[in-house]
Amino acid sequence: MNNFNFNNPTELLFGKGKVKKVGKKVKEYGSKVLVVTGGGSVKRIGLYDKVIASLEENNLEIYELSGIEPNPRVSSVRDGVKLCKENDIDLVLAVGGGSTIDASKAIAGAVFYDGDAWDLFAKGIIIEKALPVGTILTLAATGSEMNPNFVVSNLETEEKMGAGSPLLYPKFSILDPVNTFTVPKEHTVYGIIDIAAHVFEQYFSHTESTPIQDRWAEGILVTLKEESMKVLANPEDYNARANIMLAGTMALNGLISIGKETDWASHGIEHAVSAVYDIPHGGGLAIIFPNWMKYVLDQGTDKFVQYSTRVWDVDPTGKSDKEVALEGIEKTREWFNKMGAPSSLADYDIGNDKLEVMAEKATAKGTRGSYKVLDKDDVVEIYKMSL
Ligand code: NZQ
Ligand code: ZN
Repeated sequence: MNNFNFNNPTELLFGKGKVKKVGKKVKEYGSKVLVVTGGGSVKRIGLYDKVIASLEENNLEIYELSGIEPNPRVSSVRDGVKLCKENDIDLVLAVGGGSTIDASKAIAGAVFYDGDAWDLFAKGIIIEKALPVGTILTLAATGSEMNPNFVVSNLETEEKMGAGSPLLYPKFSILDPVNTFTVPKEHTVYGIIDIAAHVFEQYFSHTESTPIQDRWAEGILVTLKEESMKVLANPEDYNARANIMLAGTMALNGLISIGKETDWASHGIEHAVSAVYDIPHGGGLAIIFPNWMKYVLDQGTDKFVQYSTRVWDVDPTGKSDKEVALEGIEKTREWFNKMGAPSSLADYDIGNDKLEVMAEKATAKGTRGSYKVLDKDDVVEIYKMSL
């Protein structure tokens, strides 16, 4: 195991009815709040009214930014920055999925920066001061509710880039699984796949002797495998939604990667696809990840054998390590298919005309990954396997 520091300061308020607490929480940070929402789901599900009621009860001054897009645009971030500056906002409150949360973090991180918000991504500007962010999560997927990262798209340059700052851990996140009952089936599935992908990125590692981290990761994966079927059969199964929500938060709050080298190639490879074709992140990961697994297998089968036997109960008797590993990878693909996820780029009508362009974007800042270090040609190969 490697040395590590671990400090995650986000306070979680988890469970039914916790939204009522939002006004009181916001008040701890000041009197002016910018409420950031997506394309309207929070209004349709009645959550918006509850949030506003709690903020009003606490005499807070409310400003709003709605219409944050899935794969949030830097143009929306700029709008939010303007609102914060004009109105002297004290806290940015994200109510929605990962896109709304990420846009809110970008707004909060760009407010005190004099240049353009896109510089945080393109120039890697270090954020020295940020507004506090609070979140009310409505979709289990990204883990953004308990991590310091955010991903934003720039349509003009066809880029999708991530940034992060310890200042942008949400101060608090309100997680009521009931708020996820209405997530449409396809986004529920994309969310589950995103959570599994986050675990894979941290699980498949060459760092030796990390049995606790491995079993935490396997615990999340086995839970997802079981709860995914329950939630697809009954979208209002509270416990299944709760377990998936907790899985999403725990998969990417820094805990399961302590003391380990991590990979993150597949996320870079997927982000390049959604930058160019604006597809959902989880849908892209469903296509890419099993192909990444096959492609990197030549760097060591041990971890894949462990994955196959512990997560998928593959019986290793009489089989080579490679056969056991491939069986686990096949079971991963079968699970994704069973949930109705896409399995090839063709499912999004994506052909082979921009593979080089996407691979160029995916490797613009250098090689990707650590389980196997991938250059542009490797990324093109993974795209070809995904056609
Ligand atoms: O926009 P609205 O109307 O709210 O509808 C959304 C959107 O259409 C809808 N939705 C959300 N909650 C709902 C709901 N519909 C009905 N009922 C509800 N309760 O679902 C759609 C997708 O929402 P979005 O926020 O885009 O999804 P997700 O949470 O998967 O976020 C995806 C974004 O997060 C980034 C992705 O790249 C992508 O841009 N990621 C962020 C990460 C992070 N900050 O750590 C890590 C991830 O790996 C990922 O890259
Ligand atoms: Zn992800």
